[in-house]
Amino acid sequence: MARTSFYITTPIYYVTAQPHIGTAYTTIAADVLARYKRLCGYDVHFLTGTDEHGLKVQRAAEELGISPGELADTVVQQYHEAWKLLNISHNDFIRTTEARHERIVQQIFQKLYDLGELYLGQYRGWYCVSCESFMKGSSEDAPICPDCGRPSEANSEACYFFRLSNYQERLLEFYDNHPDFLRPQSRMNEVRARVEDGLRDLSVTRSTLEWAVPIPFDSDHRAYVWIDALSNYITAIGYGVDNDTFKRWWPADVHLMAKDIIWFHAVIWPCILMALDLDLPKKVFAHGWWTHNGEKMSKSKGNFVNPHEVVAEYGADALRYFILRELTFGMDGDYRDAAMHQRYNAELAGDLGNLVFRVLSMIERYFDGVVPDPQAEPAGALAEAAASLYEDIDRHMGELQFSRALERIWAFVRRANQYIEERKPWQLAKEETRRPELAAVMYHLAEALRILALVIAPTMPVTSARIREQLGLGEETKELKDALAWGLLPSGQHITRGEPLFPKKDET
Ligand code: MSP
Repeated sequence: MARTSFYITTPIYYVTAQPHIGTAYTTIAADVLARYKRLCGYDVHFLTGTDEHGLKVQRAAEELGISPGELADTVVQQYHEAWKLLNISHNDFIRTTEARHERIVQQIFQKLYDLGELYLGQYRGWYCVSCESFMKGSSEDAPICPDCGRPSEANSEACYFFRLSNYQERLLEFYDNHPDFLRPQSRMNEVRARVEDGLRDLSVTRSTLEWAVPIPFDSDHRAYVWIDALSNYITAIGYGVDNDTFKRWWPADVHLMAKDIIWFHAVIWPCILMALDLDLPKKVFAHGWWTHNGEKMSKSKGNFVNPHEVVAEYGADALRYFILRELTFGMDGDYRDAAMHQRYNAELAGDLGNLVFRVLSMIERYFDGVVPDPQAEPAGALAEAAASLYEDIDRHMGELQFSRALERIWAFVRRANQYIEERKPWQLAKEETRRPELAAVMYHLAEALRILALVIAPTMPVTSARIREQLGLGEETKELKDALAWGLLPSGQHITRGEPLFPKKDET
């Protein structure tokens, strides 16, 4: 039987900034979900990439005295390096300057034009260069952009408009029929209220922009950002070129992003798709916004958390764990260096790292590194504690509640540590008659490690592989649900205790 497909995307990031903790957050979350779905047997397509056109990029390149293409190439290289460092397992990376994208964006414009969805008009207004959008309303003085807080500039030009205003009813009807479309719920309510207020036609071309895709039906105009950018989600999977591949993945299961670009994904994108007569994505999830030690991260402050530095200090798995564990997905949060340090020492070095080290050390000491037979107690407290793991994790992952999934896993880690204290293997080891009991206790602990390696794999792929290796196991081939059945670790298996997984850091 064909496996169920699952298509997940991140925003395509502007090439005006280097990768940082904010862009890493979305990408790591998407990666964890992609890895989780793969473990559950889904056929996953995970797309990320870069948004390379527009005035912002053109200006940034001018400032550096290089061409926009050169700037894009340099930053794309930085993205590739960062995603490699963070073990991001994307299946594709799309750049909006690639021919496969530009050609289809032109087709999309032509199609919208032929359908009568675009018309030539005149736009006068205040324009935010940074967000590439006109301000709402008309005021005398240049308003501050509500999205980025920068001042806007006067702008008037002939441009093509997309008939967004025609879609209000259909969009509201879609929301009614798909109340889960946008998450968290509070965002759905906000967007709905704004749409009920009315939709204004959207200017989608500019005649003053060089660094953009030319429009096929009017050589004076070029695409400006949003149709170009949003279309990446379909151009990357063969829209207009390879219908089988396109149908295999579309509609997307989840578009992930932060709350800054909800409007584009939950309003504009659905309307464009309706105009093109395409299905709408199943879910848009907008997570919160990170600050750093209480401050907004910005270029001027130079206070972006740099993933390279965090990884150099703590490792990629620890960073992945921390940012998903620290925040409820959907809420804003503050990246505090002290919190990273604290969670690393307590939860990774302490709870998980110690558990693995202690269990493997005891199997070495008491059973010469061979996993014993649990016949004295074929199941027990740990089997019981693991019984609902899959259902709990799957429910949380289904709701993209990464922190809850990790809390649930850590409850199991702590239960295993507590089991050691309860059963006191060091005492059992002193009495020869209690050897079968000791064997059962150590088997169950080793089995708990096997289970843990499976459930942490999406978040901490490197640590998971290291634990499996120490248990003498290769890659798991069963689907997660089946692999989590208690008792699959073969007795007689040779283990090798490695170095501690997370060496404790000094207190700061
Ligand atoms: N190019 C557009 C997106 C087009 S998608 C069709 C864009 N690019 S961006 O580089 O500005 O990326 C914005 C996204 O980066 C956010 O939606 C979020 O995914 C991520 N983040 C950037 N900074 C962030 C924080 N400080 N906190 C959380 N996420 C952040 O918008």
